[in-house]
Amino acid sequence: MDQNEEFISAAQSPTIERFEVTHTAPSNIALVKYWGKHAAQLPANASISFTLSAAHTTSKVVFEKSTTPKVAVVLEGVHTPAFEPKIEQFLDRIRLYCPFLKGYSLQIDTANTFPHSSGIASSASGMAALAMAVVSLEHTLGGIREADKTRKASFLARLGSGSAARSIEGPIVSWGEHAELPHSSDLYATKFAQSHEVFNDYHDCILIVHKGSKKVSSTLGHSLMNNHPYKDARFEQATRHMSKLVHALKKGNLESFIAVVESEALSLHAMMMTSSPYFVLMEPQTLMVIKAIWAFREETAIPVCFTLDAGANVHLLYPNQHREPVHQFIEGVLKKYCEDQFYINDRCGTGAN
Ligand code: DP6
Repeated sequence: MDQNEEFISAAQSPTIERFEVTHTAPSNIALVKYWGKHAAQLPANASISFTLSAAHTTSKVVFEKSTTPKVAVVLEGVHTPAFEPKIEQFLDRIRLYCPFLKGYSLQIDTANTFPHSSGIASSASGMAALAMAVVSLEHTLGGIREADKTRKASFLARLGSGSAARSIEGPIVSWGEHAELPHSSDLYATKFAQSHEVFNDYHDCILIVHKGSKKVSSTLGHSLMNNHPYKDARFEQATRHMSKLVHALKKGNLESFIAVVESEALSLHAMMMTSSPYFVLMEPQTLMVIKAIWAFREETAIPVCFTLDAGANVHLLYPNQHREPVHQFIEGVLKKYCEDQFYINDRCGTGAN
């Protein structure tokens, strides 16, 4: 049987008139990066992330039976048609698995806790919240068992945005088949339940060195990996990094954790700088922050490290026990590199609800 078949809903038609539900889903930050994909949102390599908590999206979704189904997106109280094609595309991709959707119009009222212009992508949290809403409707229609909801939500979220698959659960989640993760799948993410206690309540300070939306979308960046001169080496490196990181997470080996996480961030940006066309998403302040983090780690032996997503902002990761000196470091040194001195103190969280 095709593995996707198990995700086809038993609920075939829209048997209730109206359904309203609200879900919240967090953003996540990848430790081993997903960069490169094939077919219907299948990753070129496995990835693993911290699920965040402060940076999240809350969406109220109203499903209303209609013979001419439409989608309307209201962002922070303002009708925002620019987001609707992405939602339509998502609905087209998931209709096979949620046939009941064909009879419904959707009104989505959505808001992020992080400023829209902060450069933090809302696609992971936004798609995860929407996937949760679709699964809630499916459950109400009797199409899915309670025990299967989380996996289906991750499966659907992936079809909206790959990294969104990792925003349903927390605090540490992997997505993509990997030999060291027996229950891993390319189709949905799963919780990594074997981490050492030092990773309980890990912090992520998001240093907003550059506000504004990205110049190059992740979707375009992924597609540039198809003909990338270093693609095979990159996918092999990511697979090796997953093995090393899984061991570091289990053992609480922070030295090894830091080595993998920082190498992943720089490798991601190296792929961008060596693709055709090439592009650079880092800003001068990105490098200043990275160097300041290295100097602080050298001086204090406090195990802080950085990662980057597909943008200029820097994520400063550190264990809860070191929060006081690290806060002083952020206020005293790092803050000045942030646009309008803006940063977000976030930490690992438990996922969507
Ligand atoms: C660099 O999940 O945003 O953040 O599947 O095309 O929506 P699409 O891409 P997206 O890519 C995320 C890229 C990344 C790394 C990661 O989160 O693993």
